[in-house]
Amino acid sequence: MATINLKTPSGTSKILIQEGLFSEIGDLLKKDYPKSRFAIITDSNLESIYGKQLKEMFPGVLFLTIPAGETSKNFERVISLCEHLLKKEFTRADVLIGFGGGVITDIAGFVASIYMRGMKYIAVPTSLLGMVDAAIGGKTGIDFVAKNIIGTFYLAEQVLIDPGVLKSFEGPKKMPGMGEVIKYAAIIDKTLFDHFDPFELEPVIIKSAQAKVNVVEQDFRESGQRHILNYGHTFGHAIEAATDYQLTHDQAISIGMVLANKVAQNLGKQNKEVGDKIKSTLQQFGLPCDLPSDLQLNPLLEYMKKDKKRTGNIIHFVIVTDFGKTEILPMKPEELVKLAK
Ligand SMILES: NC(=O)c1ccc[n+]([C@@H]2O[C@H](COP(=O)([O-])OP(=O)(O)OC[C@H]3O[C@@H](n4cnc5c(N)ncnc54)[C@H](O)[C@@H]3O)[C@@H](O)[C@H]2O)c1
Ligand SMILES: [Zn+2]
Repeated sequence: MATINLKTPSGTSKILIQEGLFSEIGDLLKKDYPKSRFAIITDSNLESIYGKQLKEMFPGVLFLTIPAGETSKNFERVISLCEHLLKKEFTRADVLIGFGGGVITDIAGFVASIYMRGMKYIAVPTSLLGMVDAAIGGKTGIDFVAKNIIGTFYLAEQVLIDPGVLKSFEGPKKMPGMGEVIKYAAIIDKTLFDHFDPFELEPVIIKSAQAKVNVVEQDFRESGQRHILNYGHTFGHAIEAATDYQLTHDQAISIGMVLANKVAQNLGKQNKEVGDKIKSTLQQFGLPCDLPSDLQLNPLLEYMKKDKKRTGNIIHFVIVTDFGKTEILPMKPEELVKLAK
């Protein structure tokens, strides 16, 4: 079992990673929280796969299922989930478990953070994206007018990761999160490139989770260093919005990383071989590296200007200068579009 402890000024979070952990979470949590009641929030897809086993592991659990998909990350759901907790007289001493992908851990973490000013929260991420990114680091939230506008920083007391649950996905290429993992390899840990085996993901998950923890520990509230996690995301978010979310997040940031590499190369700050290695790895996992044929660079400008992470008209743009080495450049969106050509 790999154990990673995330320590921040706002508290700590224990991350456990082990194949087969899922079947033990009932015993584990009942031992750690003997006096608490449990509520589980999950989505409709996961209920049909894991619901029966979860209900057996947690007899008497308050089991709350919401429809699968990003559209569930909204205030109406939050209100309804809080109503259920209140009706069953849950208190701050009880435990809320978010069992699912990033959508579920985002909304469940948010509910846990505001219900009675914060109840105990456990994240059980079931997607690769959740395991290496969304469930780690305490960012919770829902969509309101735009993506992730309302949210809190609230750490899960424990993040329980069983790479075995990824088997219920249809195949590695259908698995969201590989783009983020390649991102970690580029910005933090070059050795990750040597571990890419789509059928043996545990070492990749451990290294990626550790990479995210290292960055979060240095900068919990995203004022500086945590920006490096946005590599590929400035263009990526603009591409997602410009295509009306027809591309997945992985596909959009994959193209975003390739564009960021072009910017870096045009500034003379990246060797071509670095960009080529990142690109070929993205392609190996079936991720696109070019803009869709009906989308040009210029229309992205409008969306980049709306980027939540800009300061005035300046974007903190992340480039990879060498494997595991990054620079954050203050750039105007107009300059970026020019340099990405
Ligand atoms: N808080 C953060 O730091 C952070 C970071 C990155 C992304 N996010 C958020 O994460 C969300 C995306 O996460 P996601 O890609 O996991 O999406 P998701 O939660 O919608 O999961 C993707 C799909 O896979 C299904 N699924 C999940 N686990 C499964 C399993 N083991 N077997 C079969 N099907 C399974 C889900 O039902 C869903 O249909 C976005 O809302 C994004 O904003 C948050
Ligand atoms: Zn991302």
